[in-house]
Amino acid sequence: MPLALTVNGEVRLSNAGPMTPLLDILREEFQLTGAKPVCREGFCGACMVLRDGRPILSCLTPAGLVEGSDICTIEGLSPGGTLTPLQDALESHDAVQCGMCFPGMVITLTHALRRTHDLTDAEVRQALVGNICRCTGYERIVAAALAIAAAHGPEAARDG
Ligand code: FES
Ligand code: FES
Repeated sequence: MPLALTVNGEVRLSNAGPMTPLLDILREEFQLTGAKPVCREGFCGACMVLRDGRPILSCLTPAGLVEGSDICTIEGLSPGGTLTPLQDALESHDAVQCGMCFPGMVITLTHALRRTHDLTDAEVRQALVGNICRCTGYERIVAAALAIAAAHGPEAARDG
C-alpha cells in the first residue's frame, strides 16, 4: 500500500516504507529539493517544512507519521516562483549567502509571522533558535523579518 502524502496541496503517492524520512521522499521522489539535507540529525533546521502549519524537521520525521497531514515545503510558499514579501525582504536585505539554511529560515519565520505579525526583535531571535546559519551573523535576517512584519503584518507570511 503506497503512502499518500499531501504536499503543497496535492496528494502524492510514495512506495517508500513508512519509516523513510520525509525529507528523502520530498527530495528524491517528488523532486522538491528546497528542504536541505545538511546535518540530518535534527540540529540545523535546513530541512524544515510545515506540517499542518507548524515547522517540523523532515530529516527526523518518518513519512508514515505525516499521512493525513498537510505538508507545505518552501516550494509551496511560492507557487509559480512568486516570492512572498518575507522572501523579498530577505533578498533585499542581502540576508542570504550560500542559501543552504534559508528554506528552513523561511519556514520558521513564516510560521512565526503567522502567529504574531508584530514580532519583536527578541521574538524573531527566539523563533530562529533551531535554525543554524554558518555564513551570516543573523543580523540581516532579523532585520528583514522585523521590516517585513512592520510593513505587511500578516500578509508578510502569506502562502503564495
Ligand atoms: S538536516 Fe534536518 S535538522 Fe539538519
Ligand atoms: S546563508 Fe549559508 S548557511 Fe545560512
